Amino acid sequence: MPDQIKRLLVAFAIFIAIFLLARFLLIPASFGELGHFRADAMDDIAAYHPQHAGREACKECHDDVVEELSYGSHSTLACEGCHGPALKHAMYSASADPGNYPDSLKLRRPVERETCARCHDLNPSRVKFKADSTDISMVRMVNVNEHNHFIYEETNELIRCVECHYSHSP
Ligand code: HEC
Ligand code: HEC
Ligand code: HEC
Ligand code: HEC
Repeated sequence: MPDQIKRLLVAFAIFIAIFLLARFLLIPASFGELGHFRADAMDDIAAYHPQHAGREACKECHDDVVEELSYGSHSTLACEGCHGPALKHAMYSASADPGNYPDSLKLRRPVERETCARCHDLNPSRVKFKADSTDISMVRMVNVNEHNHFIYEETNELIRCVECHYSHSP
């Protein structure tokens, strides 16, 4: 065998050894046990604590709002889509003293224009709403930088969407 081929084979052997070593060190122990993924990932994900309570959970104390929301064009939205994850808020039983919610469990009123812009701002990649549509995947879009873009002189703040639209039934 010519010398240069021998050297090439040695170089290959070294590369393959490095590859096998790296593979051995880098692949997580539980990889492949259940399929082409890390089996431990199941336990990791199962260990996450739930953050959302769901609309049913709000009924107990805010049945008026739940009902209000069910009539208007926002009827399909989740409360927590606007108000944020609320499991802890909903689990806290304040029936004895409703005024006594710990600050860390209070929810805010998301009155910023950004709350509404998230779904309603012009997005050329989204299907345009058709007048007679019942398809809830289509959302009416406005140009948030133009639609009623008034600034209050006293506070220098932009008018909020909720001054004209009632968020629970817009
Ligand atoms: C066990 C009763 C209870 C449940 C269940 C509950 N809330 Fe509340 N919520 C309250 C009370 C009491 C307050 C007033 C707390 C405070 O600010 O002192 C409040 C306040 C709020 C506020 C702030 C209102 C304001 O005036 O600023 C929002 C928003 C809210 N809740 C949303 C929700 C949502 C969404 C759910 C369901 C995921 C929910 N709540 C479930 C009792 C409850
Ligand atoms: C589209 C976003 C959106 C959704 C969906 C939504 N909210 Fe609200 N909510 C708001 C905003 C914005 C305000 C503040 C309105 C204001 O101050 O003018 C508010 C105010 C409130 C308040 C304060 C008092 C009141 O009645 O106005 C409560 C309580 C509340 N929401 C609970 C809920 C619950 C419960 C749900 C689900 C059934 C829900 N919200 C769904 C945006 C939303
Ligand atoms: C999570 C997405 C989402 C958010 C956030 C949201 N909306 Fe909507 N909105 C919708 C959907 C879905 C509809 C129903 C389809 C439509 O009419 O565009 C709708 C409908 C509307 C309509 C049309 C009402 C009608 O029947 O003519 C207005 C106005 C509106 N929303 C205003 C607001 C305002 C103001 C906010 C902020 C407080 C807001 N939306 C936040 C999804 C959203
Ligand atoms: C000064 C009052 C006012 C403010 C503030 C306002 N709107 Fe409107 N909005 C209206 C009126 C009136 C209409 C119906 C006439 C029209 O289409 O312009 C409307 C229509 C809409 C529609 C339905 C458009 C359609 O194609 O039918 C959406 C969605 C909407 N507004 C979202 C918003 C959002 C999001 C904000 C905040 C970024 C906002 N609005 C702020 C008064 C207001």
